[in-house]
Amino acid sequence: MNQSTWQSPSNIALVKYWGKKGFQLPANPSISFTLDNCFTETTLIWDDSDPDKNLVSVYVEGIENPAFVPKAEKFFNKLIELHPLLKDFRFELQTYNTFPHSSGIASSASSMSALALCCCDMLMQMDLLEIEFYRYASFLARIGSGSACRSVYGDVAMWGEHEAFPGSSDDFAIPVNEVHPVFKTYRDTILIIHEGQKSVSSTVGHGLLKNHPFAQSRFEIANRNMHRIRKIMTRGDVPLFTELVEAEAMMLHALMMTSDPNFLLMKSGTVAAIHAIRESRAEHKHNICFTLDAGANVHMLYPEEDSVFADELLNHTLVGFCEKGRYIRDNIGRGPIRLNA
Ligand code: DP6
Repeated sequence: MNQSTWQSPSNIALVKYWGKKGFQLPANPSISFTLDNCFTETTLIWDDSDPDKNLVSVYVEGIENPAFVPKAEKFFNKLIELHPLLKDFRFELQTYNTFPHSSGIASSASSMSALALCCCDMLMQMDLLEIEFYRYASFLARIGSGSACRSVYGDVAMWGEHEAFPGSSDDFAIPVNEVHPVFKTYRDTILIIHEGQKSVSSTVGHGLLKNHPFAQSRFEIANRNMHRIRKIMTRGDVPLFTELVEAEAMMLHALMMTSDPNFLLMKSGTVAAIHAIRESRAEHKHNICFTLDAGANVHMLYPEEDSVFADELLNHTLVGFCEKGRYIRDNIGRGPIRLNA
């Protein structure tokens, strides 16, 4: 069977990737929790019987969707450049997400990692895979979308060369294994403050760091934060984790607010949720914190032992800031699953 199916999750960055250099390389290293419930399932079918056919066709939830073809074509053109033996092959992708595109949750991490894993299977079946499977999957996922390269591993992954993480590289992500058990219990309740596509695409967003007056400071701080988070995650220092993760989210948005042109992606509900989380933490001394990606939605992160506080805060206050009362419950997850065993 010339096909492969993988389920691959999204991830949420703790130290953020924001800014690129060269071809799809990160301006600074980043680290993330791999999620569980927010995933993409993709089947890749390959065939070299009819080179006159279009290079790629994409079906989303069973319906052909030309909107996704340009990004997929770019990916496959790069793959063919790396593996010229694939040049006569044509590719069909069948894909679905567990979270709606319109939810504002970035789907590129899960979709590109799922696609990269399917491609690795294909290369393996053709005897073209010369590098360790997940490392190469991460490398290919990065070509599709930077943050996707962290999704091929479970729990915690980091991407970008950094002295505190031996074996780290700008080319692919690596798993982070020295993690205190408390972090394996983390939940991520995603507050859908605003449905709809992100108003700043990642391409535009990363580009804003070019000529940004604070870019150099940002990259230095991100590097320092990688040192700090490594220690924090090894020791299980949850209060310091909260401080660092929130500071990273704020800095990401501060960079957008101070770029040229500038963007304000937070909505009033985002700000209200941040205040509510901080006020509740000051009052109850729990460890619920927030992070943000390049959008208005709020990721509420907390260790399992704070679930009761989190549910109370969600039901009494935060749900009121969510568009149509919507939120997604997720948690740190074990990583992608091959479905064509
Ligand atoms: C804010 O991975 O979506 O979520 O490489 O252009 O596809 P491309 O960018 P993308 O950027 C993610 C940015 C972020 C931070 C992060 O995930 O580290």
